[in-house]
Amino acid sequence: MQTAFQTIAGDPHAGRVRILDQTLLPWQTVYRDLATLDEAAQAIRSMQVRGAPLIGVTAAFGVALALQAGDDDQTLSHALTTLRATRPTAVNLNWALDRMRNALHAGPADVRRDLAWREAQSIADEDALANGEIGRHGLALLQAVAAAHGRVRVMTHCNAGWLGTAGHGTALAPIYAAHAAGIAVEVWVSETRPRNQGLLTEWELAQAGVAHTVIADNAAGHLLMRGEVDLVIVGADRIAANGDTANKIGTYLKALAAHDCGVVFHVAAPLSTVDRKAADGAAIPIEQRSGEEVRRIAGRDAQGGLAEVSLLDPDTAVSNPAFDVTPARLIRSIITERGCVAPGQIGELAAAV
Ligand code: MRU
Repeated sequence: MQTAFQTIAGDPHAGRVRILDQTLLPWQTVYRDLATLDEAAQAIRSMQVRGAPLIGVTAAFGVALALQAGDDDQTLSHALTTLRATRPTAVNLNWALDRMRNALHAGPADVRRDLAWREAQSIADEDALANGEIGRHGLALLQAVAAAHGRVRVMTHCNAGWLGTAGHGTALAPIYAAHAAGIAVEVWVSETRPRNQGLLTEWELAQAGVAHTVIADNAAGHLLMRGEVDLVIVGADRIAANGDTANKIGTYLKALAAHDCGVVFHVAAPLSTVDRKAADGAAIPIEQRSGEEVRRIAGRDAQGGLAEVSLLDPDTAVSNPAFDVTPARLIRSIITERGCVAPGQIGELAAAV
């Protein structure tokens, strides 16, 4: 998927990392420069960068930024601890930080700063390559439907496009591949309250010229029941060894409805999203975010400016779990850079890499 935008770009010479601020999308495209560990950690926490693979890439660059202030073990250890605490569910964060730690401990101490920039860039480049492969493998699923019906209607959730990664996206990668192959693809895009990441998906698909329709989250079950969806593809934030998958809150409801309606449900994710230490979904930590995200909503006002309004009083009790777990039994396959596997085989596939 070619796009004029880049989610993240490290610049070792300038000592900064440029990010596309996703808190202002789809209304404004603003790039920001991160120059310190704290700025990188805050960009992840505030969701200026978001999506499991991109969180991992940003954390890796965050280590490189931290080492500019000192390349000793203490600075490295502080950077790893600070970044690990930013968002608990997306395991790509831990994966990328473990990889940085291992590379930096193995490498010569006098070139640690250069090594950090190089390793972070490799993590970014490999993520884009892996997602390109997810697109290639997932394409076959869409081609099969198109061969039978002349078009494919896919439902997705949240944003698992190029915005959530270093390139191509995960759940959207097969959709972009199908579009490029001339297949008529139509996408159901759910809003994804409370943060409305569906608007990011809408923005991506509009730019790519892929036909799509936005729905309120609550409309998904109805469309599935009416036979208006051929398959569901979502991304993932952490996949347990048995294939249970954590993804954006609301994913589980779509999987349940898809199962009841006989619609196949696929997860698309690079193997960096697999946590072999988590035996099943119960071991996956679920991020609880601020109630303000439920109490307030952002959009454009009548003058075209950005505005936030309150839906609820500030003291209204709210709960805001950011992810849920879809049991492996509801998932037909996991589309990875190494091919599509049954959820029960994902631990084995990840171990082989
Ligand atoms: O809270 P977010 O926006 O970081 O959650 C994102 C998701 O749940 C995505 O589906 C997942 O990270 C895959 S992004 C390619």
